[in-house]
Amino acid sequence: MSEGTGPPSRALAGDHDELDRWLEEFRAIPPSENDRRCELFDRFATDLRRHIAVEERLLFPRFGEGDVSRRRLVDRMLDEHRRIEEALQRISRRLDEGPASTEDLELELLNVLWPHNVLEEESVYPWFDTHLSREQAREVIQELKTPTPARNEP
Ligand SMILES: [Fe+2]
Ligand SMILES: [Fe+2]
Repeated sequence: MSEGTGPPSRALAGDHDELDRWLEEFRAIPPSENDRRCELFDRFATDLRRHIAVEERLLFPRFGEGDVSRRRLVDRMLDEHRRIEEALQRISRRLDEGPASTEDLELELLNVLWPHNVLEEESVYPWFDTHLSREQAREVIQELKTPTPARNEP
């Protein structure tokens, strides 16, 4: 690939790795430091939602088009995205209530997120390396890199 960006599958998997690092950092902070945990989790959740939005807007519709087995895989991915979103919301709600362990909810999230990422990396992302135009690939990579705007709380 040109422009030094590499194939889309590498950028997408790299985004998974970066999200994993944010989540690991969050999980390493003790519940007593709730403000810091809220801040980090908010950053992680915002970035994960952006990643998911790129997949649902720019990738999955193309992947699922005209092929029943790929369409089935997309349905499964979308269902897992819904479960990921539910887990994110449950963790956010508990963090909003004050200092408390979220370990059980983190495991709930990881039980969906990790296998989801592996499936995408093995069975979905490689397809885009040969089925996206150079411009489409550039758009995907660009959107993944768009910095998350700072959340301005009043
Ligand atoms: Fe996904
Ligand atoms: Fe993904």
